[in-house]
Amino acid sequence: MDVEEALRRNRPTAWFEPDGITLSREMIEELIAGACQAPSDFDLQPWRFVVVRDQERKEILHQCAYRQVIVREAAAVLIVCGDTRGHDRVAEIVAEKVEQGLVPAADAPRVEEGVRSAYEVSDRNRLLLAARGAAAAATALVLLATGWGIATTPMVTFSEDAVRRAFHLPDRFLPVFLVALGMPSTSRPQPVRAARCPVARVVWHEDGPG
Ligand SMILES: Cc1cc2nc3c(=O)[nH]c(=O)nc-3n(C[C@H](O)[C@H](O)[C@H](O)COP(=O)(O)O)c2cc1C
Repeated sequence: MDVEEALRRNRPTAWFEPDGITLSREMIEELIAGACQAPSDFDLQPWRFVVVRDQERKEILHQCAYRQVIVREAAAVLIVCGDTRGHDRVAEIVAEKVEQGLVPAADAPRVEEGVRSAYEVSDRNRLLLAARGAAAAATALVLLATGWGIATTPMVTFSEDAVRRAFHLPDRFLPVFLVALGMPSTSRPQPVRAARCPVARVVWHEDGPG
C-alpha cells in the first residue's frame, strides 16, 4: 500500500470487533520499531509506549478513558507518551553526531547547550516538545498499522491523572495519545467520514492570518 492510499484508508475506527484479531507482543514491538523511524527534534526520540493487551488492564484503561467502548474492544491499546526530559539524552546524541562528522567537535558544547535551553526555557516548552515528539511517533504508527491492515483509533479523551496512576507513569512522561489497534466491527456500521474543510479555509500563504 502506498502512503497516499494508507492516508485515504486510515479512518479512525468507531467500533472494533472484540476478539477479532490477536496482536502479539512481538508484532506490536515491530510496529513500534517502525514508528520510531519518525523524525524528532534533534533526534532526541522523546517518545515512550505502554502496550496494553491484557483484558484486565484494558478494563482499567477503559475507566481512565471515560468508559469509551473502543478501549475495551480493541485488540490492544498503546499509551503513547512524550518525554518532557528528552534533552537528558542530548550529550549522547551530540557525541554520535560528532562521530558521524555532522557536528564539529569544537561546536559540541554549544550545540548541547542550545538543545538543553530549548527544553529548559519553560514548563510549557517541555510539554510542547514532548507532545510534538509523541505526535510524530503516533502518526507514523497509525499509518504503518494501516499499511499492515490493522485498524486504529487515536484517542485523546482520557484522564491524564488516572492514566498516570494506573500505569505508573512518572511526572516526566506525558501521556499524549491512546492508540487503539484491532479489527473493525463486522456487525456495527462505522460512521460516514466527516467532510474535510476546503484547503482554502486552512491555509495562509506567506503572511499568516494578519
Ligand atoms: C488527535 C485525535 C484524538 C481523537 N480522540 C478520540 C477519542 O478520544 N475518542 C474517539 O472515539 N475518537 C477519537 N478520535 C477519532 C476522531 O473522532 C475521528 O478522527 C473523527 O471522528 C474523524 O473521523 P473520520 O476520519 O472517519 O472522518 C481522535 C482523533 C484524533 C486525530
